Amino acid sequence: MAHGVVQLTRRRFGETMRRDAWWLPPLGAFVVLSSFLVYATWAAFQNANYEYGPYLSPFYSPLLFGPSPHAWFRSAPAWLPAISPALLILPFPAGFRFTCYYYRGTYYKAFWADPPGCAVGEPRTTYRGERKLPLVIQNVHRYFLYFAIAFLFILASDAWKGYWFADASGAKHFGIGIGSLVLTMNVVLLSGYTLGCHSLRHLVGGYLDRMAGRPVRRTTYACVSCLNRGHMNWAWASLFWVAFTDVYVRLCAMGIWHDWRLV
Ligand code: FES
Repeated sequence: MAHGVVQLTRRRFGETMRRDAWWLPPLGAFVVLSSFLVYATWAAFQNANYEYGPYLSPFYSPLLFGPSPHAWFRSAPAWLPAISPALLILPFPAGFRFTCYYYRGTYYKAFWADPPGCAVGEPRTTYRGERKLPLVIQNVHRYFLYFAIAFLFILASDAWKGYWFADASGAKHFGIGIGSLVLTMNVVLLSGYTLGCHSLRHLVGGYLDRMAGRPVRRTTYACVSCLNRGHMNWAWASLFWVAFTDVYVRLCAMGIWHDWRLV
């Protein structure tokens, strides 16, 4: 049987036969991720207006040191430079997101045009992939996962504390404010994102090259897979909401927004 030889010609950068608006998703990702990065960096350096009553901004949680009732310790060790407390903890959730398998595919397209879209010409002629430096470092994602899970417990604790309001005497009473719900929704969305992580799926249900056989591991694998199918939606929703939660607490602390008490 004769075989024909097909010559593939390399497309120029941006060249494609696609007729749809393929550039729209990467452009949207570029705008949203850039906006988030700028806002989160600004907020982290503010070192102010990150708490309001029982509410604590997730950008500053856990609050390790300080006179605030939210702080874990009263004073920082002498060797620690006087920097915003957000800068001490944000590298962990930031590292988790930056190395996320979904975000990698997204920002490789949106920021590096590598490629700009499926079947669209890219600027490079060589492909190093993620098996060599520097991108092999992305494999630390599985270790950031452990920190991300610990953060879920901390943020859940913050959300719970957001339902306990102090009266004039300092005694705490259960109540529900809009901020309580905002903090709770933040944990729900971050949990949906974190617990659908590809690395977690492997951790709970896989070995190096095969599935685990135990029923309990198969079941947990199925649960993580269920969340994983919507990983993109969880990723964007949780990104938006964590920023909104900081905005909410910040504007309440600045006296620009009033926190409505429902109960
Ligand atoms: S793959 Fe996205 S959080 Fe792990």
